[in-house]
Amino acid sequence: MPAHAVIGGQWGDEGKGKVVDFLAEKAHCVVRYQGGNNAGHTVVTQKGEFSLHLVPSGILWPQVTCIIGNGVVVDPDVLIEEMDNLESRGIDTSRLYVSERAHLIMPYHILLDRLEERARGSEALGTTGRGVGPAYTDKTGRMGIRAGELFDLSSEDFLSRLKRTIEFKNNIITKIHGEPPVSLEEVYDKCLNWSQRLKHHIRPTELMVHKTLSQGHNVLLEGAQGTLLDLDHGTYPYVTSSSPSIGGAGTGMGLSPRDITSITGVFKAYSTRVGSGPMASEMHDSTGDALREKAWEYGVTTGRARRIGWFDAVAGRYSVLVNGFTSLVLTRLDVLDGFPCIKICVGYEVDGDAVDHFPASASLLGRCRPVYEELPGWEVPTANATQMSQLPREAVTYVRRIEELVGSPIHVISTGPRRGETIVIKPIL
Ligand code: IMP
Repeated sequence: MPAHAVIGGQWGDEGKGKVVDFLAEKAHCVVRYQGGNNAGHTVVTQKGEFSLHLVPSGILWPQVTCIIGNGVVVDPDVLIEEMDNLESRGIDTSRLYVSERAHLIMPYHILLDRLEERARGSEALGTTGRGVGPAYTDKTGRMGIRAGELFDLSSEDFLSRLKRTIEFKNNIITKIHGEPPVSLEEVYDKCLNWSQRLKHHIRPTELMVHKTLSQGHNVLLEGAQGTLLDLDHGTYPYVTSSSPSIGGAGTGMGLSPRDITSITGVFKAYSTRVGSGPMASEMHDSTGDALREKAWEYGVTTGRARRIGWFDAVAGRYSVLVNGFTSLVLTRLDVLDGFPCIKICVGYEVDGDAVDHFPASASLLGRCRPVYEELPGWEVPTANATQMSQLPREAVTYVRRIEELVGSPIHVISTGPRRGETIVIKPIL
């Protein structure tokens, strides 16, 4: 019963979309287990480039059933738009299912995400503004609306819950934020439209996943964001509101840890981060700017410029520790082609004292200065390489040093956005 998890090892945007698509060729089912449309996964096939926010990255393989698990928060408007776009490009979405237990992102969540950020002023988290945090807040506060409830819109229970919730939200929207209230009728009409459009897609997906596993097929668990944005393990409070790390995979789709046979961590060959929060190895120089432009490091969801840093092995080691990765995928190695010197952050220092672990405190991490090891760069391009033997010696040294520092083997290297631009050192599936 093989379930394989693919998890971001850094602050998201590691290239999980390409990795999941690459592995999905041998999978029966791909499941998203957390996050929402704050994610932006890019997949390139012969049909062109696809930017996916909610739909799992396996959708481009026709044999794959795609599931949005109970741990995901779903904005039905975004989901419907994404499905329409895929259909218009010839991708069948009838094999896409949403867990009846998945919570919905309602219009008031999106509004509150923006109002809360505005109220934080200079301490804003830099959220994506998609309503993800407020939707998870309602889930844990036991006032969320779940996808399965769209089947029962005329029940007294649903109507009174929706009315009570909107009254509560409107108190906050009008009295705290001074903005006009949300209309109950408009939200209810949206729910009616969603229920019409999505009724064939909302299912008890936990049962579907277990059935697939019991038939011996591969199931891929697709993480969104990354471990350093994890609500528990990331740079709190500068995190997302879900658990992208391995712990989230079980609860986010109703699987036992015993079902998960491999856990692959995806790391970019350098670091990026969007939004606020500490990043010890951030570059504030022309090398960082050159790297951003060369790699086009701008958010798929918000278009924001990503912050750029050297590979942070201290953070990477922590990520390996909390996830127990059985293998790593190193992406975007080709972006480093042509840089004369490449640095790896191997430790931190605060006021002259060494810090050898990834601190829990964002304020302490913010004061950490990186300790760098410098490695020679390479002239021969790694772009489009498909074999280790095509990599220049310096690039191999860099890859091996990362493995050594984070303590986990690299089984796949990505050297470009297309499926074929991949070096498989050891097959993951
Ligand atoms: P939220 O998830 O929209 O609440 O945003 C919280 C933090 O996570 C912000 O710093 C976002 O920029 C960051 N974030 C959320 N989703 C992603 C992602 O898919 N990639 C990278 N950063 C993300």
